[in-house]
Order: sequence, then C-alpha cells, then structure tokens
Amino acid sequence: ASNAEQACEASVCSKFGKNEYADVDWDNLGFGLVPTDYMYMMKCSNNGIFEQGQLNLYGNIELSPAAGVLNYGQGIYEGMKAFRKEDGNLLIFRPDQNAMRMKIGSERMCMPSPSLDQFIDAVKQTAQANKCWVPPPGKGSLYIRPLLIGSGPILGLGTSPEYTFLVYASPVRNYFKEGSAPLSIYVEEEYDRSSRGGAGGVKSITNYAPVLKALLRAKSRGYSDVLYLDSVNKKNLEEVSSCNIFIVKGNVISTPTTAGTILSGVTRKSIIEIARDHGYQVEERAIPVDELSEADEVFCTGTAVGVAPVGNITYKDRRMEYKTGVQTVCPQLYSTLIGIQTGRIEDKKGWILEI
Ligand code: COI
Repeated sequence: ASNAEQACEASVCSKFGKNEYADVDWDNLGFGLVPTDYMYMMKCSNNGIFEQGQLNLYGNIELSPAAGVLNYGQGIYEGMKAFRKEDGNLLIFRPDQNAMRMKIGSERMCMPSPSLDQFIDAVKQTAQANKCWVPPPGKGSLYIRPLLIGSGPILGLGTSPEYTFLVYASPVRNYFKEGSAPLSIYVEEEYDRSSRGGAGGVKSITNYAPVLKALLRAKSRGYSDVLYLDSVNKKNLEEVSSCNIFIVKGNVISTPTTAGTILSGVTRKSIIEIARDHGYQVEERAIPVDELSEADEVFCTGTAVGVAPVGNITYKDRRMEYKTGVQTVCPQLYSTLIGIQTGRIEDKKGWILEI
C-alpha cells in the first residue's frame, strides 16, 4: 500500500465507506478554509534536492522567526482542483501544468523546486488521503494548495538555507459571494498589481498582499473584484486580483498576452483551447481599456474562480453593462470545461489525472 493508502486507512476516511464523506454541510460551501485530515511535507536544504516527503496530519507548522518567507517573502504557491466522479474516483485537473508553473516560478524566486514527478505524487497523495473531504458530484471540488517556501533562517537579504514544499487541501465551491451570478468589477487606476520586470507572471506570494488595498476598497463599494491596468501607461488590461480576464465581441474572444506581468492561468489556457474547439477566434494581445465599452460580453477565468461571467465594469465613473445568461459564450465554454473536469465529457486532451 502507498503512503496515501496507509494514511487514508488510518484517517477519518476509514470511518466511512469508499464513497462516503466527512461531516460537511455540502450545500453551504463557499471558498473558506475547511481544515482536512492530511497535508504533504517535503524539505530540502542547501543541496537543492527535495527528499523524503510524506503525509503528515494537517496542522500548524513550526518556523524560525527569521525564515526567508516570513521576512523577505520568498514563497510561491499553486492551486488546482480534484473532482469526485459518480463511481467514487477522483479527477485532478492538469496537475502537470501546475507542476511546471511552480518550477518556472521557483526559478524566478531563486528557490529549488520539487521535480514534476514529486509535485504530482504529492498532489495525488494529498487528494487521496483527504478523499472523504472531496464534495459529492455537483457540489464543488477539493481545492489543492501546494506551497513552496523559504523556511530556513536568513538575516541579511539572501536565499533561504532551507525550503519546505507542502500541500494542503480544502473542499470548496463558489469563489465569490455572488455564487454563480455575474460579477461587478472595478477598474483600478491608483494601484498596480505588477510591473515590468517584476514577479507578476509567476505565482509568487508577493503578488497577493499588495492587491488587498484596492480589493478591499472596491469590495466596500459593492464590487466583486478589481481589474488592474498595465503599470507603464495605465492603458491596457492586465488581470483581476484572483483571475484572468476575457472579452467577447462577435465571434472573437480576446485576452491579454501574459508577457511577464500577467499570470499564465491554467484555466485561461484551457478556455482558450476550448473556445478554439468551439469555432471562436481567440486572440492573445494587448487590450486597450477603451475596448471594454465595445465588448458584448466579459468573463473571468481561474482555478479558484472557474469561469465567471462579468455583468458590469466601472471605469472612470462609467459603468458598462454586459450580456450574461444561458445564451452567452461564457456558460457554453464553462460547461465544456466543467464537463471535462468532472468526467461527464470525455477527456480527449489528456487533461485529467484519475486516481
Ligand atoms: C487560484 O485560482 O487557484 C488562485 O490561486 C487565486 C487565489 C486568489 C485564490
């Protein structure tokens, strides 16, 4: 038996049958942390090689107050989802893409990273060991969060002498409090998310706290999230705090090019491919903010967010409204994506890891 199987047998999961569940109110799941039973941990010191990873009970970790991640923000993370099929198997969506992205991000942040196989094995073990926390079909997914941090102490600015890779998971459903209702987005002009030459193109933890200022201000005014513009000219669309953005005009779907300042979303990439399969013309290009006034439809994509329709965007006190509803492009593309993710549509692309 693998580590994961042994762990699962010893865990809460074993109190239940193969297809049974932890005690969660599945109908009231949002995107809050629901602590699960196990997390995966693996360390590496100066030699740069990660080894002897294992599942541990989920819980707090001990860190030096001088840890690189706490003082200098040396950390990156990933996010992916596992869905439960009717037959009880779990379907993990494109973990190879996240493994690759962590590798690229770790290089930017001067960190060693687990190999692609180590990453995928850790994700599988974490999902399997927490299987009873994977929502029933149609009620959400298990959000899997790999984290790579400089865990060793360092006082002068420099790379950490030790790194920890860990993977934890939480059952989730809708990211926004709007549920699946259209989002209301505010175009931020004062603060930037990312600058040329910065780390905006990788999933560095340092990209997230700085957006809170604009995000909280927009939320207090009733918006769901904030859309950032490029930091050089404040002219082109970049991304939303938690997701990528797409605009639709006729048969053409456009999304900003991810040239270093925008995160290369796995859902973004998948939706581009699905849209082309559906016969749409998809353009990755610079999108001037003025094009927001001409778009028929706008939607956002992200692992946590899924594919979310945008009902309106406010830019310079002007509120622009967009088409939403069953006849639009967004639900059409999303139903293909979620169909593949949940096993209702055959995966002809090799996107699904079934365990
Ligand atoms: C994800 O979509 O997985 C993310 O990491 C976004 C985060 C703000 C929840």
